[in-house]
Amino acid sequence: MTKPLWIKHAAQLATLASDTQGPRSQQAMSDLGIVEDGSLWIEDGIIQAVGTTTALEKKYAERAHEAEIVDATGRLVTPGLVDPHTHVVYGGSREREFEMRLEGTSYMDIMTAGGGIHATMHMTREASEEELIQQATRRLDLFLVHGVTTVEGKSGYGMNLETELKQLRVMKKLQEVHAIDLVPTFMGAHAVPAEYKGQEDAFVDVLINDMLPAIAEEKLAVFNDVFCEKGVFTPEQSERVLEAGKRYGLIPKIHADEIESYGGAELAAKVGAVSAEHLLKASDEGIQAMAKSGTIACLLPATALYLREEAAAGRKMIDAGVAVAISTDCNPGSSPTTSMPLVMNLACISMRLTPAEALTAATYNAACAIKCEDKVGSLEQGKQGDVVLWDAKSYQEIQYFFGVNHVKSVWKKGEQVV
Ligand code: NIG
Ligand code: FE
Repeated sequence: MTKPLWIKHAAQLATLASDTQGPRSQQAMSDLGIVEDGSLWIEDGIIQAVGTTTALEKKYAERAHEAEIVDATGRLVTPGLVDPHTHVVYGGSREREFEMRLEGTSYMDIMTAGGGIHATMHMTREASEEELIQQATRRLDLFLVHGVTTVEGKSGYGMNLETELKQLRVMKKLQEVHAIDLVPTFMGAHAVPAEYKGQEDAFVDVLINDMLPAIAEEKLAVFNDVFCEKGVFTPEQSERVLEAGKRYGLIPKIHADEIESYGGAELAAKVGAVSAEHLLKASDEGIQAMAKSGTIACLLPATALYLREEAAAGRKMIDAGVAVAISTDCNPGSSPTTSMPLVMNLACISMRLTPAEALTAATYNAACAIKCEDKVGSLEQGKQGDVVLWDAKSYQEIQYFFGVNHVKSVWKKGEQVV
């Protein structure tokens, strides 16, 4: 039997607890449910009590001696961060493209010339399951070090049934063996592979008729994502793939309006996507439609920075009533990073989220974007004991003192992992 864990005397315990159900927008994104001199009691991996240290001292007076005690005096404690959008399982890396882009070649030009997603597709097709597991494990370990305890992961570097299955089976394996919770998304519609060049609709048929049924049969994915972008999949093709996925119980997500305004945000609202991702060039109509449909905007400011593009209009979206989540987009091309703390900093600096909104976007709203909010994303009785202790006194300090990792310790289901 492992001992109960008692984290005591947090200067700020940001519980993210609230009466608001579902994704938080507008004012609700600023309410962090802070308890000063806060305490948490975790047992059997589950949070049993949250409150002031005085209240928990009373409640557990008889059992205090059983617990492993962590003194958080002077420090911030938050829920484990949630990253709701990654491409964490892939083969190889693409340093040369980074140099090419700095020399002036665009991301899309590299992709059209057979690099980019296509380059990673080849390296992923060639890698064995063991190699993919080994490479992804290193990245998942880095996520933990940055306070991230739940990660969504997409396939989409196979673009044939065999390799899409391989990527998703690797995720299933990682979910079993790694401390991080990994939530799988099928993204066969990530690019059109060279063998289908000029026959894009035929590739969409393969996605719908061959890949989706096989993935659903093995229950390898929860979500279905599409790269809806000029030169990749049209809104019509994207809609076909997402509607087909729904028939297999897969929840739609969309990489939308990243490079050009293309109706992706509007489509997300239309198909009832849980989230739309990127949205750098989302139209005002698209933003309004998302606010109305309750589609979460999953914004990726590290990707915008890495592509040297202006970040999405996060401030405007929140003011328009859209619930915003943020993510690393961890992938080998447009955002090779696992640092959610940096992404929170950038959400403030480049999208004008407040420090409180950025924390909500990286915890509770991020959990909503992958439908895990009943288990993670806030510190409440009955939820998983996923907790970060920060070497900082407040949530404001971790957003303000930027570009460094303030994470001191991390617990996953009550077990210390960092
Ligand atoms: O979310 N935009 C499309 N897909 C990824 C990038 C994938 C890659 O470059 O390998 C993204 O940015
Ligand atoms: Fe992505």
